[in-house]
Amino acid sequence: MLVTPACPMTWIPQPTQDGSFTFFSPAFNETFHSRQGARSEAFAKFALATDLPRLAQRPSLNLLDVCYGLGYNTAAALETIWQVNPQCQVVLYGLDNDLTVAAAAISPTLIANWSAPVQAALTALANAEPVGLSVPVTGEFQGQSQNKFQGQLLIGDARQTIQQLIRQNFQAQAIFFDPFSPRRCPQLWTVEFFAQVARCLARPGRLATYSRSAAVRSALGLVGLQIGTIPLAAPDPNHPHEWAQGTVASWTETSLTPLSPMELEHLQTRAGIALRDPDLSDGAAAILARQQREQALGDRESTSSWRRRWGLG
Ligand SMILES: C[S@@+](CC[C@H](N)C(=O)[O-])C[C@H]1O[C@@H](n2cnc3c(N)ncnc32)[C@H](O)[C@@H]1O
Repeated sequence: MLVTPACPMTWIPQPTQDGSFTFFSPAFNETFHSRQGARSEAFAKFALATDLPRLAQRPSLNLLDVCYGLGYNTAAALETIWQVNPQCQVVLYGLDNDLTVAAAAISPTLIANWSAPVQAALTALANAEPVGLSVPVTGEFQGQSQNKFQGQLLIGDARQTIQQLIRQNFQAQAIFFDPFSPRRCPQLWTVEFFAQVARCLARPGRLATYSRSAAVRSALGLVGLQIGTIPLAAPDPNHPHEWAQGTVASWTETSLTPLSPMELEHLQTRAGIALRDPDLSDGAAAILARQQREQALGDRESTSSWRRRWGLG
């Protein structure tokens, strides 16, 4: 569904703890990024977790940004890649259903956080005239390298727009997977949607997400991907019982950080029952209700009992 608000949405920048800004979505009742730091989240959970400093040594890279939003994951990726290899040619697809966010994110306060070539890429993406449901952009930058970026935002429900990438056999070495939380936006965390996204994941290649939820990890596993954890950078005094900052998945890689015994047991609890959307068309309530029915019917350990066993409060 293409979101075209009756009166244009005003996105008000909200500061996060690393000094960068995020937005709050009234529709999903969530901020777009972690309150701990929007910019640092984009680097730690997406650019670094997909191994971009190493991948950037290649002459070219394909990236897929699922839920482009303000474009921070794309921006952190481009910064990381071009710092290692200023000549690297990048092809990027971003999926989102609300272009007003990308447009608001190129205001001078927000975009000043990024280097000149990255600002040019974000601006070109956000300013492009929609053609049908897509916004084609070719960024050409003066300087060390020209024509090193080609980007396109596909605007619409990602469950549909991903089909275009599958048809053209787009293969990304890095996929940033960043919808609102599974509780608020379950449509984009189902086994069926991950199966579509995984068809765009190159071998080798990595998908990274901030979610370390058991249902999300189970869904990635059911699709056939190897999964690893993104360990905490440091213990978080505000969240003393937190155990990971996300999940990484790959078809082929054996070098992912393995899930701890505690995380593996989490997958066996009721929380590990994956979300389902058989026809890729259900609404949030139907998808959550289906998961609850499956949880009620099974005889899995409750997640609260698992938490108690591991001293998670
Ligand atoms: C958590 S925010 C993404 C933040 C973004 N990665 C960034 O760095 O700013 C989630 C995004 O998902 C988009 N979204 C929500 N439902 C969607 C859907 N069904 N299809 C595509 N995008 C969707 C929202 O417009 C929002 O921009």
